[in-house]
Amino acid sequence: MNKLFNPMKIRNLEVKNRIAVPPMVIYNRTDDTGYVTDIQVEHYRKIAQGGPGLIIQEATCVEKDGRLCDSQIGIWEDGQIEGLKRITNAVHETGTPIFVQIHHGGVFGFMEETVCPSDIECMVKGNMKIQSTHTYGIAPDSELICRCRRTGI
Ligand SMILES: Cc1cc2nc3c(=O)[nH]c(=O)nc-3n(C[C@H](O)[C@H](O)[C@H](O)COP(=O)(O)O)c2cc1C
Repeated sequence: MNKLFNPMKIRNLEVKNRIAVPPMVIYNRTDDTGYVTDIQVEHYRKIAQGGPGLIIQEATCVEKDGRLCDSQIGIWEDGQIEGLKRITNAVHETGTPIFVQIHHGGVFGFMEETVCPSDIECMVKGNMKIQSTHTYGIAPDSELICRCRRTGI
């Protein structure tokens, strides 16, 4: 317990205590564009004001079709940067660092034909329906692959 409020280093990042807020999606706070809303900015500002050492932003989708539901934050197009920066700035104002959890729902994606690494059958929790998913060949010069290369993934 005595170490909980002590600073520590994560590589070259100094955190003021060992309390880290895990990524937690807040559903229904954005429309289906994936653009950050004022409510989300204020949500993260309030968490930061509570004084954690680190915040990890909720699962933030790298692909429109890779969302678990249509109201998740997106990071799949440049227009989304501004809103993401607003969250970062609101958190940084309190001196708290923030990471982002980049995310693709894979087989659990809510789209009818979601892109997954393998063609498997999946038991979807909740309504217990069996969902068959498909693998698609993704062209090496496709926009998705080029974007992944540019961002170093
Ligand atoms: C409302 C809610 C949203 C969550 N969203 C995410 C998420 O976006 N990404 C993730 O990896 N985990 C998510 N989780 C899991 C939490 O990060 C996890 O519950 C947290 O690490 C605490 O772990 P514990 O439940 O085992 O104590 C979510 C959990 C809740 C309750």
